[in-house]
Amino acid sequence: MKRVLKWLGIVVGTLLIGVVVLNFVGKSRLNNAPEVATKPVTAAAGETAVTRGEHLVNVVSECRECHGEQLEGGSFFDGEMGIYLAAPNLTAGKGGIGATYTDADWERAIRHGIGSDNRVLVIMPSNYFSHYSDTDLADLIAYLKTVPPVDSDFGPRRIGFPGSIIGGVIAFDDFTHINGIDHAHVGANAPVEGVTPEYGAYMVNIAACRDCHAANLAGISPAAGTDGPPPGPNLTPGGEPGGWTEADFINTIHTGQTPSGRQLDGEQMPWPIFSRMTDTELQAIWAYLHSLPALPDNS
Ligand code: HEC
Ligand code: HEC
Repeated sequence: MKRVLKWLGIVVGTLLIGVVVLNFVGKSRLNNAPEVATKPVTAAAGETAVTRGEHLVNVVSECRECHGEQLEGGSFFDGEMGIYLAAPNLTAGKGGIGATYTDADWERAIRHGIGSDNRVLVIMPSNYFSHYSDTDLADLIAYLKTVPPVDSDFGPRRIGFPGSIIGGVIAFDDFTHINGIDHAHVGANAPVEGVTPEYGAYMVNIAACRDCHAANLAGISPAAGTDGPPPGPNLTPGGEPGGWTEADFINTIHTGQTPSGRQLDGEQMPWPIFSRMTDTELQAIWAYLHSLPALPDNS
């Protein structure tokens, strides 16, 4: 009996030490971003830049979906799994980052997924925003500097046990996006605005379509999407849109109704927001989708 207890003690002790070590490793990985190459831009000036930035923030990249209607921030976790986490207040109000953030800070957070305190940002989709061109990013930052300050303080992020182990060790690359970014080449691909597949691919990236429609845009099967974003269907010519015309596609985004008469759920597929995209943007996206190989659903 004593021997059994002794072994049990050793096993439990070892497990506890393991948990303590993993808790420490997870926290430290989440709180200390590795050194990465960054490419700061200077915020653009002038009304045209701010207007373009407004369009990018509010329509294309939908920052307000997570950061709140007034960019005042929004809570994501409130103690679940030991995690306290908000998409921070981006304004210059009390509790916001706007008053202290430099242009270099904005670039590092948006394109590289690293906060000004060097923490690795979680959930924030910088893996898609890393595709931002220098000029668009300069306009986007210009607009962010003009948003009215709102007082709203969510306090600092805290990731305790077991979130530290789940998010910091086991599922680090799902919780964060820092490893999915080609840091040295951000801004390198800046296609000229126009109705071309290249510009369409750029839009699909910065609008994060792949987050819900899969990396290859062939769709996500409903089962695989149960704990992630809503699963979107196949957008390649192998899916239903393969039989559409450009006008069908644009009409679908404008009205949420597909050519077969199905009404898309605007909460799941953000067509009400994307409907404010320009004709050039939508035509370019269509040109890109149409240029893809016809892939089977969810392949
Ligand atoms: C899918 C939700 C989501 C979207 C969309 C999103 N963010 Fe975030 N963002 C977050 C979360 C969550 C955090 C906090 C991450 C953390 O603390 O680990 C964050 C953090 C940030 C930070 C870091 C602030 C700091 O505390 O240092 C900045 C800057 C930021 N986001 C800007 C933007 C901008 C600009 C956009 C649109 C181009 C955007 N975000 C879109 C979820 C999102
Ligand atoms: C937040 C997740 C999400 C994002 C981001 C998203 N979609 Fe969707 N999309 C969906 C879902 C879910 C559906 C299915 C909705 C339904 O059936 O009600 C859908 C449906 C569609 C459809 C209809 C397809 C069909 O076969 O009926 C098109 C077209 C489409 N999305 C295009 C896009 C494009 C282009 C982008 C990027 C600009 C995009 N989506 C971004 C989730 C998303």
